[in-house]
Amino acid sequence: MSSASEVRALPAAGAGPRPRAPDAHIVVRDMMIAYGSFVLIGDLNFTIRRGDIFVIMGGSGCGKSSLMRQMIGLQRPARGDVTYDGVSFWDADLDTRERLMRSFGVLYQQGALWSSMTLAENVALPLGEYTDLSPADIRELVSLKLALVGLAGFEDYYPSEISGGMRKRAGLARAMAMDPEVLFFDEPSAGLDPISSRRLDDLILELRDSLGATIVMVTHELPSIFAIANNSVFLDPETKSQLATGDPRELLARPPDPKVEEFLTRGGGEPPGGPKTARPARQRSGG
Ligand SMILES: Nc1ncnc2c1ncn2[C@@H]1O[C@H](COP(=O)(O)OP(=O)(O)OP(=O)(O)O)[C@@H](O)[C@H]1O
Ligand SMILES: [Mg+2]
Repeated sequence: MSSASEVRALPAAGAGPRPRAPDAHIVVRDMMIAYGSFVLIGDLNFTIRRGDIFVIMGGSGCGKSSLMRQMIGLQRPARGDVTYDGVSFWDADLDTRERLMRSFGVLYQQGALWSSMTLAENVALPLGEYTDLSPADIRELVSLKLALVGLAGFEDYYPSEISGGMRKRAGLARAMAMDPEVLFFDEPSAGLDPISSRRLDDLILELRDSLGATIVMVTHELPSIFAIANNSVFLDPETKSQLATGDPRELLARPPDPKVEEFLTRGGGEPPGGPKTARPARQRSGG
């Protein structure tokens, strides 16, 4: 495969940034997901541009969360690598890896706010740990982040005192605490009603635009996928490969594989108004 030989021909990490497309932000190259000798997916290759809303798609158990963990540094890939602005993550030294990890904001599939802490304390946690900000500055920043997700005034509530949708939004506020360059969300709208889910989509778009962040998310929600994503990868456990990468609406218009079409037309549904007129995935100006 040409990309494999290209990778081998590229300079090693530390020999300067690797060549890349001008607006490429995150590049996953020849990545394999395996547990022991069990290979889940063998050959992941895709590029995420700065400001993209990128969706990881595929059936339950196909390896979406595993892929996310390999991208954020929680799980070493069985093979391959991911680069951020040309900097190789898994080849990098520990300092570089930690610096990169601090530029990520993550909302995990299991939500995981600390139940014994108020919303403000939850959001403040990474700020206290990784910045020299004074407690007063942290409080102000925390209120700002909570306001951004529509939770102004809920600083002193505990997670058990608010609704599921509000907890998701508090999770977003915590993921954004450090003004991340990349936000990773694992099924942010799972368990939400359609209206809350739609609001969360709008919020994600706003966050992308206001933070100028790149967003990588796992979701099964077709309305979300067609409303806000402009790039994607589709994982298939049967062939242990990625079946497609690109704009989901283009994948629907010209399905590269019947499984991709089946996934994108579940319930016989096209996106509202058809693929061409779906709520457009807004592009950032200049991006
Ligand atoms: N730590 C682990 N050790 C061994 N196997 C694992 C581990 N984590 C995940 N797996 C296996 O890898 C497969 C993919 O898991 P993963 O959580 O990445 O899937 P997923 O696509 O996120 O699924 P879902 O849509 O249900 O969240 C599953 O079969 C799971 O059993
Ligand atoms: Mg998962």
